[in-house]
Amino acid sequence: MAIKPKSLLPFLLFFALFFFLATTFAIAYQREGPEQRFQQCRQRCEESGQRGEQRQQCKLQCEKRYQQEKQQRQERERGTEDREDPQERLQECKQRCYQQHQGSQKQQQCTRRCEERYSGERERGTGSNPYQGEEEEEWTQENPYVFDRQSFRHRVRTEHGHIRVLKRFDEKSNLLSGIANYRLAIFEADPHAFVLPNHGDADCVCYVVKGRGTLSVLWGEQKQSFEINQGDIFATPAGAVIYLINSDNSERLVIVKLLQPVNIPGRFENFFGAGGQNPQSFYRAFSDQVLQAAFNTPSERLERIFGKQSKGAIIRASEEQIRALSRQEGGGRWPFGGRGSESRGTFNLLRKRPTFANRHGNLHEADANDYQWLRQLDVKVTFANISSGSMTAPFYNSRSTKIALVVEGNGEIEIICPHITRQSRHKGHGHRREEEQEEEQGEGQTGQQYQNVRAQVSPGVAFVVPAGHPTVEIASSSGGRSQNLQVICFEIRAENNERIFVAGKNNVLKNLPREAKELSFDSSAREVEEVFDAQEEEGFVAGPEEWQRRGRGVEGYNILEVAAGF
Ligand SMILES: *[C@@H]1O[C@H](CO)[C@@H](O)[C@H](O)[C@H]1NC(C)=O
Repeated sequence: MAIKPKSLLPFLLFFALFFFLATTFAIAYQREGPEQRFQQCRQRCEESGQRGEQRQQCKLQCEKRYQQEKQQRQERERGTEDREDPQERLQECKQRCYQQHQGSQKQQQCTRRCEERYSGERERGTGSNPYQGEEEEEWTQENPYVFDRQSFRHRVRTEHGHIRVLKRFDEKSNLLSGIANYRLAIFEADPHAFVLPNHGDADCVCYVVKGRGTLSVLWGEQKQSFEINQGDIFATPAGAVIYLINSDNSERLVIVKLLQPVNIPGRFENFFGAGGQNPQSFYRAFSDQVLQAAFNTPSERLERIFGKQSKGAIIRASEEQIRALSRQEGGGRWPFGGRGSESRGTFNLLRKRPTFANRHGNLHEADANDYQWLRQLDVKVTFANISSGSMTAPFYNSRSTKIALVVEGNGEIEIICPHITRQSRHKGHGHRREEEQEEEQGEGQTGQQYQNVRAQVSPGVAFVVPAGHPTVEIASSSGGRSQNLQVICFEIRAENNERIFVAGKNNVLKNLPREAKELSFDSSAREVEEVFDAQEEEGFVAGPEEWQRRGRGVEGYNILEVAAGF
């Protein structure tokens, strides 16, 4: 078939437009890069009216700056990859497909989607927002609330310790977009480790899981040092210069951190002033002229200070150094409490009387009344110590989302979730579909459906429980090695939150009037009350296995049932 020139015209126009846009973007991108700045810098030297030697010097500075920037960019890219490696994510994604669809045709489809989603990323680079255009989570149907140990990525790793940061909550699932501006991190350091002074662009609530040490904080011209011990909560504000030692001779120091970035939602960085090559001191990134003038010192001497350190951000100190650094200063008062008010530097959660305590477990809680900073950050810290074979009575939080980390023991959690069922029933995205869904539900044709999101948990596993979602934590009792399940938890949006139990002696529904019970359950109120009253404990109760073993609650009931069977 002959092609008429006329029919080609739209194509030509299209291509012209495409090239125009592509070039425009390419130029815009170029303008950002170090190359472009290098050219501009050289041009400024040319135009500055300097001559000979001087102009040469000027250009050399440009060159030096360019090399530095290039190196930094490479380092940054490497850093980003380490944290958000697309290859790693591809593997995780494929793994999920396997777990969900094991060998069925769906697994292939799922794997293919993973590849489409992650494989192009290497070439595109991770410079811009790698999560842009991320699809809704629905197609993976992975457990959106549970994070295994592999979900943490190393931010700092040296011979003597490390900091691992959990991937972003909104990277995991859209259902977690409400807490996208929080990050969870775990710090661990060997005995006698020293963490170099640094500041971050995030407020932080920390909990000492084990070990002991001394934390020092520089804030303007003030300096404070605090002893920290297992069970201590402390907060550090964005921008404060912090350094830390593990002062114990044999125990590791482990700290869990909840970070709330103040610059870019969900992202935070650390800035090391004290340092050299590794950790790179930010001083090195200033131009030489500025640095010399600022320190009133020639650059050779500056180089001797800022060029040496190369052992990393967590290093080992000698015994004398540890002893000297352990000395407390400043009387243990926090210089930056709420307006005008000073507050304590630390608060020990474990020494506070538990809110719930029985043979099945203990719940310790600290809130704004215990520690000033928790008010400011609107966070509550809780520690649940659940006896082997027991469980929490099912409950939900009225406003708080719970970000939890298992620190010891094994067990299982169940979270009741209305979103997942809905998502999996409707595969489509976009507004129209969403509206349809809601209409459908509004008409009450399908009714509400809940999914039980359950998972095995072990030390190092993190999980999130959204507000309003009923949940339960069960300490495993299997095997001889019975061990308590210990969970540290940050409850965000703590103000006016109420923990509401849906079973146990304090079950919220026990307060319904008889008529409401009859109407709601379509049964006699007596029958309903018998069931609601059967559980006599509150807060923590026997877990499923223990309950079975103990002869299923009330002994008499059991005998009657057996008798009826004959
Ligand atoms: C947890 O409870 C057990 C007793 O059931 C106790 O021995 C242990 O010290 C508790 N752990 C913490 C960290 O409080």
